[in-house]
Amino acid sequence: MNTKPSIPFLCFCFFAILFVSSCKNHKEDEYHSLTDKIKAESKHYKGTSISSEKYINGLNLLEITENEILFSIPNRKDEIKSFKCTECHSKTLKKMHSAGLKKAHWNIKLNHANQEVMNCVTCHNGDNMDNLKSLTTHTIDFNKSYKLCSQCHQKEYKDWIGGAHGKRIESWAPPRVSMTCVNCHNPHSPSFDTKWPARFNTQKVEERK
Ligand code: HEC
Ligand code: HEC
Ligand code: HEC
Ligand code: HEC
Repeated sequence: MNTKPSIPFLCFCFFAILFVSSCKNHKEDEYHSLTDKIKAESKHYKGTSISSEKYINGLNLLEITENEILFSIPNRKDEIKSFKCTECHSKTLKKMHSAGLKKAHWNIKLNHANQEVMNCVTCHNGDNMDNLKSLTTHTIDFNKSYKLCSQCHQKEYKDWIGGAHGKRIESWAPPRVSMTCVNCHNPHSPSFDTKWPARFNTQKVEERK
């Protein structure tokens, strides 16, 4: 008689042990993965009772919903010195140009995209200066200028919605308030200069002497 255990029997033993030991592990850790654990333990989470409301009270804010995420940004129109534009731009830009007026806004120098792809009326609406305009000539409110930027900077725009680009203001607890693009970037010259740290390291200078 052959006393050697058959191969199918060996296989059965191997999987039986594996099964028992995996069940044992399962009991010890309770969850198969970290994601399972987070899902199970956050089932009864009712959110935080802490609120930023007292910090944002009285701020001039605008509530927006982008990609189904609701948050607030600071209003811009009150910050723009020469708003309302139509106080001077009562005629279309075409008519103003042909009137041979002196050049205005001499302080604004475009340093953004290449001049062949971008000029003043890429973003401003010559027929209705109180609003911005999209590349497909839709009206964009000055308070929502992030819609203008998002046309060409999708990556930063998406990061911004998620909270990875830009800055949250006042407090971390909900309701969320985030800076908008033009709080940090000048639309006419949006990139930042490289700079030295605000505080010079005098200790290092001493050590080098
Ligand atoms: C104090 C008057 C005044 C105000 C306020 C004003 N503008 Fe103007 N703007 C002018 C004049 C004058 C011109 C020059 C027209 C020309 O070049 O023939 C001009 C020209 C422009 C041009 C065209 C520049 C070019 O080189 O073609 C843009 C764009 C513009 N303005 C945007 C704005 C916007 C946006 C606002 C509001 C946020 C505004 N302006 C507010 C007086 C004003
Ligand atoms: C990339 C888009 C873009 C281009 C190009 C652009 N602007 Fe603007 N401009 C804006 C936005 C956005 C604002 C509002 C900024 C804010 O909220 O502070 C603005 C604001 C202004 C203002 C009001 C500034 C103030 O503080 O009073 C004037 C005037 C203006 N632009 C004129 C011009 C002129 C003239 C040109 C061309 C030389 C130009 N812009 C090109 C996007 C643009
Ligand atoms: C019509 C398309 C267009 C719009 C609208 C536009 N941008 Fe840009 N932007 C560009 C291009 C093109 C460049 C140059 C990219 C490069 O040099 O890599 C640029 C450059 C920049 C840079 C500098 C990137 C760097 O590498 O230093 C910043 C910051 C920026 N844009 C922010 C903005 C903001 C904020 C707005 C909205 C107010 C805006 N842009 C609107 C096309 C656009
Ligand atoms: C709290 C300030 C802040 C806000 C708000 C903000 N940015 Fe920026 N952004 C920055 C800083 C800081 C950098 C990095 C600049 C550098 O590295 O020189 C940057 C970089 C960028 C760049 C260049 C990226 C690269 O790879 O070089 C673009 C484009 C840009 N931002 C677009 C936007 C747009 C569009 C929005 C709004 C949806 C926005 N930013 C909102 C501060 C801000």
